[in-house]
Amino acid sequence: MRIPLVAGNWKMYKTISEARLLVSELVPGIQAVAGVDRVLCPPFTALLAVRALLEGTEIGLGAQNMHWELSGAYTGEVSATMLAEICSYVIIGHSERRAYFGETDESVNRKVQVALEHNLTPIVCVGETLEENESGRTSEIVSRQIKSGLDRLDLGSNNIPAKVAPVVVAYEPVWAIGTGRAATAIGANAVIAEVIRPALSDLYGDEFAQSVRVLYGGSVKGENAAEFFAQPDIDGALVGGASLKASDFTAIVQAASI
Ligand code: PGA
Repeated sequence: MRIPLVAGNWKMYKTISEARLLVSELVPGIQAVAGVDRVLCPPFTALLAVRALLEGTEIGLGAQNMHWELSGAYTGEVSATMLAEICSYVIIGHSERRAYFGETDESVNRKVQVALEHNLTPIVCVGETLEENESGRTSEIVSRQIKSGLDRLDLGSNNIPAKVAPVVVAYEPVWAIGTGRAATAIGANAVIAEVIRPALSDLYGDEFAQSVRVLYGGSVKGENAAEFFAQPDIDGALVGGASLKASDFTAIVQAASI
């Protein structure tokens, strides 16, 4: 069975002091919620401060990006080995990185490989733009993003990791991110069931495809979260805007609790 996961992607919000305040408001509400993995992804600068506040809780910590090289002359970049000392998750290939920072399926693939080698759980984002959606290319785009982005992974013996697969996928239609216009729960579930899991199955077999947690992301809020989580193939959410307010994020985490 796939344990639901709710991750908060803070994007480029929260100074260290603001991050401390948000975490102190969040922890009492979400640490006791059973049956759901919770992860906070603050900006790099706030990772250590947030980590200190999460000590003794089971709330996970993640970064929002990393480089595929482990060290080198890459001004402004951060490596998997640097992150592995601090956190256990990393968001890879978010559509904002694809749109504004030249991230490609190829760079996503290199990053995912390196994250896994360093025991970081990658949360790999895929999703079609509005134009791709309206021209009926959702399946083609999302399938390509999965097959290229997750190609050639070393998943250890017989491809099936012990409990849950170490890779998390987030299906985030670009037109639904930050727009207040979420996908329908049924529509998002259909893309996951009919495109994402079959693409994962083509890569590593059906057992793997069924073990991977696939989140939905794009305008998830306390009010619509339960509808998404009721879908059989949606295993949680990657939350942007609503992860910046303690009451909103807590409501989403509670909705995912089983
Ligand atoms: P949103 O962002 O919840 O603000 O739509 C989701 C994301 O970008 O991961």
